[in-house]
Order: sequence, then structure tokens, then C-alpha cells
Amino acid sequence: MSLISGKTRVCGVIGDPIEHTMSPVMHNAAFKKLGIDYWYVPFRVKKEELGRAVAGMRALNIRGLNVTIPHKVAIIPFLDKLDPLAEKIGAVNTIVNDDGILTGYNTDATGFLQALLEKRVKPEGKTIVILGAGGASKGISFTLAGRGASLVILNRRLERAEDLAQRISQVSKNEVKALTLSEENLAMVLAKADILINTTSVGMIPDIDKTPVPARLLKSGLVVFDIVYNPVKTRLLREAEAAGAKTLICGIEMLVWQGALAFEQWTGQKAPLELMREEAIKALGHEN
Ligand code: ATR
Repeated sequence: MSLISGKTRVCGVIGDPIEHTMSPVMHNAAFKKLGIDYWYVPFRVKKEELGRAVAGMRALNIRGLNVTIPHKVAIIPFLDKLDPLAEKIGAVNTIVNDDGILTGYNTDATGFLQALLEKRVKPEGKTIVILGAGGASKGISFTLAGRGASLVILNRRLERAEDLAQRISQVSKNEVKALTLSEENLAMVLAKADILINTTSVGMIPDIDKTPVPARLLKSGLVVFDIVYNPVKTRLLREAEAAGAKTLICGIEMLVWQGALAFEQWTGQKAPLELMREEAIKALGHEN
């Protein structure tokens, strides 16, 4: 890595906790590869310090920040402008600082879509089952509804799924249903589904032997996307593969794409996607 100079521009990520982030290795490797004089650092920012952190970003002229849990929604009032997609979703994961004007983007949602399209999966006209109704589901659900898919959102707490479905139906003509996440409902909706997306944390380390969907409900022909990236291949993906599902998309793809799209916003250059993927996988290997 080249040394930091007087011209080095700083990017980073704010969140709490932050120790397990993969973003610094992905971005610093990408800056180095392209010979861009940028540096990416993690900042642990507590909830009550968020406003002061944004003021610090302005004062220190930090070029860009990623925003992660728990700040993706709370950050919005501190920004000057919002990209229309981030506004619709109501969450921001990337900030760009253009001479003191801070604009918020949601590259989680566009990154998710890129990961799908890269596998040649087209959401238009498909029936998509989405597990979970939290922050990650919100971005994904809005993006897919905007692409002409019919959605069924299943969540442990039904009221969150209903609330999300209602907000999506205000901006989309496609069908959006909400159901409780139960085995019975899964059996009913998966029988007619084209794509299954897990946005819950079920199956994430340390609970790697858990899965949100019983194996017997998985079938060949179903496209399965699990946004959990640690482990890279979750139990859900392993069982889907065993059931003959051909297109499996790991959460690491979304992670890499959201990073690549943020990188492009900050630098104006095309991100070295393959290198970022390799670095993220390597860093995950060190974690486990
Ligand atoms: P994120 O921003 O990562 O989506 P979140 O907003 O906390 O995080 O949402 C987590 C999602 O995982 C929610 O849909 C949550 O269900 P509830 O809304 O009912 O809490 C879901 N989830 C977490 N643990 C779960 C479990 N053990 N079983 C089923 N769903 C679970």
C-alpha cells in the first residue's frame, strides 16, 4: 500500500459494532490496484454521537462514508440531499461529500439487484418470496417491486411484513402480500415461487446449523438468494443445492456489489469487482 500523503482522501464506514466489517480490506485493495490516493478506515460511532460524526465528516472533508447498523435510517436528517431510491427506501448506506454537500445513496439495494442480474436472473414478472421485513428486506423489496416482480413477504412478526407490504403497494402496481413466517405458509407460497430470498439473520454465524426454510420445501428450478454472508454457503444454500436449485446467490455478492457501487460514487472510476470479491472472501476466511 502506498503511503498516506498530504493529498490522500479519506473514506470510511461508521457503525456500531464495526470490528467485523469487511469493507476496509475490499476498498483499500481496490484503491491500491487502481493507484488512487484514497484510504478507507472504520469508525465506531455510537448512536448518540451520530450527528457529531457527520459534522466531523464535513469539518475533516472526508470524501465518503459507508453507513451500517444501527445508523442507516437515523443518518438521513443529517444529510443535505438524498438520491431518489434512498429516499423511497428510507435508508442510506453510502454518503458522498461533494465540497461540503452530503448526498445519501442506498447501494445495498442497487448492489442486491446487480448481484441478481449478474446471475442473469430477471425479476420482471416473477413471483418472489422474501423472508424478513427488517432494514435489509426493505431495500430489496422496494427494488424488486420497482422491477415488476410480485412479492410475498413472510416475517416472524406479521405486523412488520404488513407495514412494509402496505408501503410498497403505495408505489407499485404489482401484487405484494404479507404473511407470518411459518412452515405452513412457506409450503403454500414456495409451491408457486420463482425466487426465494432470505433477508433474516437465520443461519448466520454462530447459528450455522439453522435454516429459515425446511429442506423438504426447496425444489429444483427455484432461484435461492441468501443475504447472510458469514458463512459464505449457509445451510439454506447447501440444502437448496441438494434439492436441485441451480441458481444460488451468496450474500457475499451483495456485499461486494454494494461496496463496488460506493467505490464508483467516491472515485468516479470502475471498481475492480473481482479483486474486491477475493479480498472479502479472504477476510471472511480469517474471521472463521
Ligand atoms: P436487518 O437490517 O439486517 O434486516 P433487522 O431490521 O433487525 O435487521 O431485521 C432482522 C430480520 O430478521 C427481521 O425480519 C427479523 O424478524 P422480526 O421482524 O420478526 O424480528 C428476522 N429474524 C431475526 N431472527 C429471526 C429468527 N430467529 N427467526 C425468524 N426471523 C428472524
